[in-house]
Amino acid sequence: MIADAILTHFNQVFCPIDLGHPLSGQEMKKASIIEDAYIAIKDGKILAIGKGQPEQHLIGKNTSIQSYEGKIATPGLIDCHTHLVYGGSREHEFAQKLNGVPYLDILAQGGGILSTVTSTRKASFEELYNKSKRLLDYMLLHGVTSLEAKSGYGLEWETEKRQLEVVKALNKQHQIDLVSTFMAAHAIPKEYKNRSNDYLKLIVETMLPIVKADNLAEFCDIFCEKGVFTAEESAYLLSKAKALGFQLRIHADEIAAIGGVDVAADLNATSAEHLMMITDAGIEKLAKANVIGNLLPATTFSLMEDTYAPARKMIDKGMAITLSTDSNPGSCPTANMQFIMQLGCFMMRLTPIEVLNAVTINAAYAIRRHEKVGSFEKGKTADIAIFDAPNIDYLCYFFATNLIYQVYKNGRCVVQHGHIL
Ligand code: NIG
Ligand code: FE
Repeated sequence: MIADAILTHFNQVFCPIDLGHPLSGQEMKKASIIEDAYIAIKDGKILAIGKGQPEQHLIGKNTSIQSYEGKIATPGLIDCHTHLVYGGSREHEFAQKLNGVPYLDILAQGGGILSTVTSTRKASFEELYNKSKRLLDYMLLHGVTSLEAKSGYGLEWETEKRQLEVVKALNKQHQIDLVSTFMAAHAIPKEYKNRSNDYLKLIVETMLPIVKADNLAEFCDIFCEKGVFTAEESAYLLSKAKALGFQLRIHADEIAAIGGVDVAADLNATSAEHLMMITDAGIEKLAKANVIGNLLPATTFSLMEDTYAPARKMIDKGMAITLSTDSNPGSCPTANMQFIMQLGCFMMRLTPIEVLNAVTINAAYAIRRHEKVGSFEKGKTADIAIFDAPNIDYLCYFFATNLIYQVYKNGRCVVQHGHIL
């Protein structure tokens, strides 16, 4: 078959190996890294990938051929945990944070997530749309081509719905593909202070069925944390969501290990998120239940904590892990997936191959888009991140700088030299 475009002579192309399940344990150490590589694209999909001169049968008179000497390519990065849609920002809490006031104390005083809830409730659809679009643009400029986005700054139906509708609209209109998660159980709204059970009942009885019927989200998530929702409450909500056909994820063991990991394993969640405080028993449980550990190192960085999730131990004990931004206005205001990858190496001691597998093929499984994206198998979508880096080690070593040279989405160049085309 003749290609529409062939990108040739990359120094390296990083090709994750799709084994039909998230890569776990030792599998995360393997990938095919092709030197002097080419990628052939047809109808927005990967047609062929190889070494040296592209095979003659791929080249027709209309095939565009471009050379990428000195550059590397990976599958488009996938950010599988973001709180994309919100009003306002929280730099006013920064001084408190610098003075050592803990994150959960700020929340307990009515700030933190609850302060963003106030701003989000006030924001119109257009305001939320434009603000989220701007954030998505930054993410695209850093190489992200698919992401997960959660609601959870409404904590009442009208605003939760508005957030989900913004995600739906952006999924249609923005170059990045979005996967939606319903997370009304992100905090206990002030109207339900000390009545978390009543709030959960409201979510289960009135919100979840509409989210399902209107196809507003694929996943359901909850913040299982000390002072927020207990493991028992999390199990209640997530089992109801599962019965309605939602896929599950759970914020677990972020600040205190209170049983969220057991809920994830028992209910077969797709992923458990954060896991900074996970115990050895928790790691074994998730490994056995094939729950992906979705780790968010920039949150630890931004919360100014010392304890990163024990990613090394997780892989060594056979877990599948992925890394994502957690982009949100409180515990992680960033749009830079490359920095997340670098923290994976610098602070978690992962290797560049493990990191790249985490943010491509494993992240694709974590958003359940593995049949379409996450690797360069023939027929997958031609989503490609091209970096101004000579090899994949450099990409993880030269930190906190946007190394993107170009981004391809659906076979089309959408970012070039720091601009969206
Ligand atoms: O994943 N942990 C709960 N939710 C977010 C923080 C959201 C916020 O602080 O606004 C997180 O870190
Ligand atoms: Fe989060």
